[in-house]
Amino acid sequence: MGMIKCLLIFLNSQVLTALALPKPPADLEGRYDILNPDVGPYGLPFIEGDIVFDPLYQTIEDVETRKGTTNTERLWPKNKRGIVVVPFYINDQDLDYQDRVMAAIRHWRENTCIVFKKLKSADKPINHLNIVRESGCWSFIGRNYGQSSGQKISIGNECLGLGTVAHEVGHALGFYHEQSRSDRDDYVIINFENIESDKTGNFKIRTTLTDVPYDYTSVMHYGSKIFSINGEFTLMAKDPFRQGLLGSRKGLSFRDIKMANIMYGCIDSWTGSCGLSAPVCHNEGYVDKNCTCRCPPGTSGDQCQEVTGGYYPDLECGGNVTEPTVITTPNYPNTFLPETQCMWWIQAPFCMKVKLTFSSFKLIKRMSSSCRFDKLEIREGGPFVSGHTYCGSEIESGQAFESIQSEMFLWFNGAVEMEPGFSAHVSFINDPDC
Ligand SMILES: *[C@@H]1O[C@H](CO)[C@@H](O)[C@H](O)[C@H]1NC(C)=O
Ligand SMILES: *[C@@H]1O[C@H](CO)[C@@H](O)[C@H](O)[C@H]1NC(C)=O
Ligand SMILES: [Zn+2]
Repeated sequence: MGMIKCLLIFLNSQVLTALALPKPPADLEGRYDILNPDVGPYGLPFIEGDIVFDPLYQTIEDVETRKGTTNTERLWPKNKRGIVVVPFYINDQDLDYQDRVMAAIRHWRENTCIVFKKLKSADKPINHLNIVRESGCWSFIGRNYGQSSGQKISIGNECLGLGTVAHEVGHALGFYHEQSRSDRDDYVIINFENIESDKTGNFKIRTTLTDVPYDYTSVMHYGSKIFSINGEFTLMAKDPFRQGLLGSRKGLSFRDIKMANIMYGCIDSWTGSCGLSAPVCHNEGYVDKNCTCRCPPGTSGDQCQEVTGGYYPDLECGGNVTEPTVITTPNYPNTFLPETQCMWWIQAPFCMKVKLTFSSFKLIKRMSSSCRFDKLEIREGGPFVSGHTYCGSEIESGQAFESIQSEMFLWFNGAVEMEPGFSAHVSFINDPDC
């Protein structure tokens, strides 16, 4: 890959011998706005970047009432034995490609009651997923009927990550995007100034009721720069410490799985077949196929009754800062661990500003004009206004930054265990404009 080659040139040979090659951040993962062609299959348009807009569907769109589709005709039906079967055909003979697609299908299958049946030919039955390697990644919402040779899902070469394939299969099972939920304004901020005016239709609310709480880690959530015209954030988490969770393509989240199991009646049928012995599950937990409670992150116990943490992973480092202090990357002056993420929300007292003075700063340097690996974003306007991003030795010792008002937000991403990171002193100064 081009990225790896660049990295080889970039890293000096000394370091290289000691270092397993890092996986470069997948800048384009989930950027359907960039990856996908302008027009979808059969000449149909895309909505939200990767959903093939089906005019047959348009009329019922307004009455959608859940995170997923409620139009039962669009859900994959049960067979005579009461089992939901989704037949699929992988329209590509490359074994590596087939493995990558199968990994995501197994991921869905293992976590739900949906049975995916692999077909040997593309003609029968009429209703099946026809997984093609066309340009980009896209899918219809739910089951579409009457398409001879099945309903296409494209898993292009750029889209072979587990979470991306799982996302497209999620659409085919009936899921919309997470940020199209009616309650999304309680959780995300949409920066319309960073979105081209004719693309704002991609941020519509499409569903009005929800069976599981909003989930920043949903595999169906957009990344934070989708449809950005200027490289700035288009979606921001209202809880700024959660910004880094948006657009995760690591795999299905607990709530994704639970929602699918609600939509397809899996929980009902498991609970039923467990009979009187079905456990009662608390805190969003539900009865799984083996008649035990499946518990969300941050809970444990037979009935998910013990709360041990939050639904989202704890911050590795950083947090709120309300006193003068020194902040550093973890292990400073030794290097931080790979894939370290820290955020600091520095809040000065009333009528004061934040002053951040660096004593040292050293990260992996900029490549082809962007900080692709390590980076520090300094939001001088506070948590919800994008700031400037620095890497390499771009901040000098003694250099200071001041907040515009009383808040400053720092977002550090350390990709590789190589450079020492930074150390900076936080102080509060009088705001002359206050
Ligand atoms: C039930 O299945 C889950 C995974 O789905 C597993 O973690 C758990 O150990 C199983 N419980 C029993 C009692 O087999
Ligand atoms: C940080 O401060 C904000 C605003 O004062 C508050 O809403 C939030 O709960 C705090 N977060 C943490 C992790 O302490
Ligand atoms: Zn999508």
